[in-house]
Amino acid sequence: MLNLILFGPPGSGKGTQSEGLIKKYQLQHLSTGDILRSEIANQTALGLEAKKFMDKGILVPDEVVIGMIGSKIDACMAQDVAGFIFDGFPRTIPQAEALDRLMSFKNIPLNKVLSLEVSEQELVKRLLERGTTSGRADDQNEEIIRQRVVEYRIKTEPVAGFYDKQKKLVRIKGEGTVDEIFTSLCKAIDSL
Ligand code: AP5
Repeated sequence: MLNLILFGPPGSGKGTQSEGLIKKYQLQHLSTGDILRSEIANQTALGLEAKKFMDKGILVPDEVVIGMIGSKIDACMAQDVAGFIFDGFPRTIPQAEALDRLMSFKNIPLNKVLSLEVSEQELVKRLLERGTTSGRADDQNEEIIRQRVVEYRIKTEPVAGFYDKQKKLVRIKGEGTVDEIFTSLCKAIDSL
């Protein structure tokens, strides 16, 4: 199995690059943001609870997200997948520890953590631009976008150090054209 984490701040291009990578490497995309938005669209209890946090640009509590991703992995494993791309997960140290436990319990490897490096100025510009058409409440104003970046700096950035210690972290320049960044990601994956 090939299992990857696509890591990086909001707007760094995780979702955009996942699209190409899942096609090229035949992987299953697991985006906690997409799963949560689908729970909101279906008005489930989990979705309604998560919405309160997401609309403010704050992370959803760990226990909610960890339980949710665990069920998704189980459902995918039943279908004999070639591997996973985790997008937007893990976002805290407890989430990273939970994923390690889950993977080791299932006896599957975590091969690489690909971290997209983008300046804050570029992140804010991309998300404000997307906010004009995305309909996402958390893309609508600069204050909420900056709050998402603050959450990232405080709670998520330490996760990079967690994987650096495991020698799994690869930093990739996340500015440039989508194709240029895709090529850098593929190079890092193919070097495995
Ligand atoms: P989530 O949906 O994961 O959003 P995010 O990480 O905040 O960021 P985005 O999806 O907006 O960015 P991205 O890096 O995927 O970039 P994209 O490719 O879309 O999370 C939303 C919320 O859910 C969180 O705030 C939190 O509340 C909750 N949540 C989710 N996971 C959680 C977890 N694990 N724990 C707790 N809470 C969780 O690109 C962005 C824009 O840039 C697009 O318009 C794109 O077209 C453009 N773009 C992409 N690449 C380029 C490029 N090279 N040049 C120019 N523009 C580009």
